[in-house]
Amino acid sequence: MTHLFKFLELYFIWVFSMGRGSGFGKVILFGEHFVVHGVPGIVSAIDLTVDVEVKRVGEGIHVRDERKGARGYAERKRTQQKESIERMLKIMGIDLEEASLEIWLGGNLPGFSGIGASAASSVAIARAIAEEFEMNLSDERINEIAYEAEKAYAGTPSGIDNTAATYGGLIWFRKNLSGGPNTFEGLNMKEPVEIIIGNTGVVADTKEMVAGVAERKKKNPEKYDPLFNQAESLVFEARKALEEEFDLRKVGRLMNENHSLLQDVEVSCKELDYLVNLAREQGAFGAKLTGGGGGGCMVALTPEKELQEAVATAMEKEGFKVLRTKIGVQKIRKISLISNKK
Ligand code: PMV
Repeated sequence: MTHLFKFLELYFIWVFSMGRGSGFGKVILFGEHFVVHGVPGIVSAIDLTVDVEVKRVGEGIHVRDERKGARGYAERKRTQQKESIERMLKIMGIDLEEASLEIWLGGNLPGFSGIGASAASSVAIARAIAEEFEMNLSDERINEIAYEAEKAYAGTPSGIDNTAATYGGLIWFRKNLSGGPNTFEGLNMKEPVEIIIGNTGVVADTKEMVAGVAERKKKNPEKYDPLFNQAESLVFEARKALEEEFDLRKVGRLMNENHSLLQDVEVSCKELDYLVNLAREQGAFGAKLTGGGGGGCMVALTPEKELQEAVATAMEKEGFKVLRTKIGVQKIRKISLISNKK
C-alpha cells in the first residue's frame, strides 16, 4: 500500500508539478570587459528570452537544451553549463547527489555568443527551480544565484549580464571591486531606438577573453591604464547622450570609439571588424562588438525601420544571422537596486 501511495505521489509530481522561469537576453552598449575592472557599463535587455521548465523526475540531472543557436554553441558550452547548474543548486541548498531534475531550455533567444544567452539561461533556470521547490525568491536573490552560475561561463564576471537578464530594461551598472554590493540603476530614454545585432557565427569563450584582458592589463599597465581611463569617460558621455541629450549621432560616434578601445585591448577579431565596417558603410550611426568578443556578436545603432532593414539585409546577403530589435523598450523591473555580493 505504501508503495502505491509513493507511486501515486511521484506520478502526480511528474504530471502536475513543473517550475517555469524566464531570463532576458541583453546587448552591452558600452563598457564590456572594462566593466569587469570597475568601469561602469551600459546594457540593454532585449525582448527575447530563454524560457525554462523544470520537472522533478527520473534520476540525476538531465538537461534538454532545445534553443536555436549557432552551430556548435551548445556543444562548446555544455561543460560550463553543467558546472553553472551545479553551482546554482549548491547555493540554492539543493543536494546534488539526491536531485532528480529534468531541465528543458527553450525560448526565442538564440544561442549566440555575446547576447547574454548564458546569463539568461541561468536566471531562467534559477526561477524555474525556485518555483518548482516553492522557494518564493526575490529578484535580488535570483540575480545573486545567476551571478554564481555566471562564474562557470565568465570566470570573474562583472555581474552586468545576470543583472540585465534578471531585471530587463536599460541599465547603468558598476561592479564593486572591494567585494561589496554592485550598483545599478535603470536609465530612461526618450523613445526606443532600433538596433541590429549581427552574429559572426564564431563561437567564443567569454572566460578566455576575460582572462586574456586581465593578463595583458597586468603585464602592460602603461598601455592598458590609459585605455581604461578613456573607457570610463566614454561611458559617462554615452549616458548623457542617451538620457539627457537623446543625441543618437553622438551615441553612434561613441559606440565607434568604444569599438576602437575594444580593438586596442585585443578582444575584436576580423569577422567582428568586418561586420562593424559593413554596418557603418550601410549608414549605421555607430557599430561595435558586443559582449565577450573574439567572435560572437556586434551591435549597430540603426534608428528607424528603413535603416535597420538596410543594414540587416546587407549582412544577411553575406550569410550572417541578424537580430532586429530595439533598445529602451522595457522599463527595469526595479530601480536603483543593489545586488551581486561577491
Ligand atoms: O559574451 P557575454 O554575452 O557573456 O558578455 C560578456 C561581458 C563581459 O564584460 C566581457 C564579461 C562580464 O562579466 O562583464
